[in-house]
Amino acid sequence: MIRLVRLFSTSVGDKLIVALTGGALLVFLLGHMLGNMTVFQGPDSLNGYAAWLQGHPLVWFFRFGLVAVFVAHVLVTVRLTKANRRARPVRYSRRVARQMSFTSRYMVLSGLVVMSFLAFHLLHLTFGVIQPEIYQLEDSQQRHDVYAMVVSGFRNPWIAGSYVLSILLLGLHLIHGAASLFQTLGINHESYTVLIRYGVYLLVTGIVLGYCSIPLLIFSGTVSLEGG
Ligand code: HEM
Repeated sequence: MIRLVRLFSTSVGDKLIVALTGGALLVFLLGHMLGNMTVFQGPDSLNGYAAWLQGHPLVWFFRFGLVAVFVAHVLVTVRLTKANRRARPVRYSRRVARQMSFTSRYMVLSGLVVMSFLAFHLLHLTFGVIQPEIYQLEDSQQRHDVYAMVVSGFRNPWIAGSYVLSILLLGLHLIHGAASLFQTLGINHESYTVLIRYGVYLLVTGIVLGYCSIPLLIFSGTVSLEGG
């Protein structure tokens, strides 16, 4: 136990925390995407799924866990980045330094975009602040009409466009993040490095296409308020 506490107070421990919390957020993203894709099965499916989730006895446990994982991911990444900058007695060659600062700058920037998107997304669909007129709707079974909320929301070109753009940037963050996750966990043997790299591309492309398909198919009118 003491060894475990010691490990998590070193930079190796920090890397492990970032990798494990990143992995947990990736699992959330996959689950959230699959749940949201029930929109393609019509109002009853998405509203039923949302009602089931809201009424689940573990929903608050899950929400607090998600917030804790997210906060740990961000704070430990900041600590790690600061420590890496301080602990460089021997400078990298100019090319490596340029490459590293580009990667870390783009991870920080894309991470900031994901955080701003998340704030916007929660204000939009969880708290109903951005389009309050579509938040109060109920379906014929008196359930929160999440289907009507999502479909009406993505008919607005600015809303649909900002989701698509943010999800593309989320994809950039995930590509490097998921590849680092395997590296930190030591899953990087040369005989399957290529397999892992293509696996990461495939997973991230699936996530980006899955999420983007929702605003795109709604905005194009393929998915309508009547369902389908
Ligand atoms: C097309 C894309 C997306 C759609 C349609 C969508 C839909 C939704 C909806 C409808 C809710 C509210 C659920 C409810 O209160 O019943 C929600 C909550 C949430 N979404 Fe998304 N989402 C999308 C993308 C994302 C992305 C990319 C992330 C993460 C970066 C994300 C993270 C969250 C979180 C953390 C919550 C709060 C969960 C909770 O209240 O327990 N969503 N989303």
